[in-house]
Amino acid sequence: TTGARIFSGIQPSADSLQIGNYIGALLQWKEMQVTNDAIFCVVDLHAITVPQDPALLREQTRRTAAQYIAAGIDPEQAILFVQSQVPAHAQLAWILNTITGFGEASRMTQFKDKAARQGADAASLGLFAYPTLMAADILLYSAEEVPVGDDQRQHVELARDLAGRFNSRFGETFVVPKAVIPTETARIYDLQNPEAKMSKSAASDNGIIWMLDEPARTAKKIKSAVTDDQREIRFDRAAKPGVSNLLTILSAFTGTGIPALEEQFTGRGYGDLKSTVADAVVATFEPIRSRALALLDDTAELDRLLSRGAERAEAIAQPMLERVYDRVGL
Ligand code: ADP
Ligand code: NA
Repeated sequence: TTGARIFSGIQPSADSLQIGNYIGALLQWKEMQVTNDAIFCVVDLHAITVPQDPALLREQTRRTAAQYIAAGIDPEQAILFVQSQVPAHAQLAWILNTITGFGEASRMTQFKDKAARQGADAASLGLFAYPTLMAADILLYSAEEVPVGDDQRQHVELARDLAGRFNSRFGETFVVPKAVIPTETARIYDLQNPEAKMSKSAASDNGIIWMLDEPARTAKKIKSAVTDDQREIRFDRAAKPGVSNLLTILSAFTGTGIPALEEQFTGRGYGDLKSTVADAVVATFEPIRSRALALLDDTAELDRLLSRGAERAEAIAQPMLERVYDRVGL
């Protein structure tokens, strides 16, 4: 592994990951762990920026880690760990809070969206500080590249600004990271509402394809996906969001480009497209599901593996935190 240091994470905010996490994150990570020095995290401190059930969070943290491994993240090749097990994340986040402008943080669109959903009074200070915690995740490891979906672009931008600001105020300390965003066609939308990004935390489960769902349920959801009242299978995000979303999924799961798929489906119906997508998704997710469930059968072994990951992460994070404390006069 001679490539750049990369860091990325997913929140353990549901029992299962969804297909957008797989296409937008895990698929990229799996490739990058071979060529890069990769660090992958289950970001449980981020998950508590919205209210959590403690027992459920603990369970979902394990389930998320198991799904990383089941989907192909190799805990030997990459460092795989749980964020809260390395205290330096919370400690650096506090320091970064002190150099972040209130107005600057207020401009983060994810905060505005999530706060609007919760109601301004229900939203926590932790939710507001989500982006500085994410900056800490990245900067602690001197990550050069951060593979994320384009919904996280603004947060990585903030991490860059904070790295530069800290360096100019206190002396060269952090690597200025850059976002590695998969192409526009790696963004997956809700099957029932193909204008909205698919998300673990969506209000309704009907439009979400879960990695750990029963294959029959996954197939049924795909076959009930919202399309349009035309008959043409063509990629056009604005005019045909449902069909475009199905083509995106099929392209990611088969490795066939979208133009080739459009050609392949000329003159064929939406039912045909949906069955093809369902078969492709089930063929990939069924073995991932079995592997994840097997890993979750032995939580002692999984926990051991995660603590070893945390030790490896800490060996990088702790010296950086000490350098930062020293620089700021602590
Ligand atoms: P979620 O919105 O499902 O809770 P997270 O916020 O935990 O997902 O994000 C984990 C990773 O998955 C990020 O890199 C994010 O950009 C990516 N991701 C999440 N949803 C999608 C989606 N619908 N399409 C593409 N990538 C996504
Ligand atoms: Na997200």
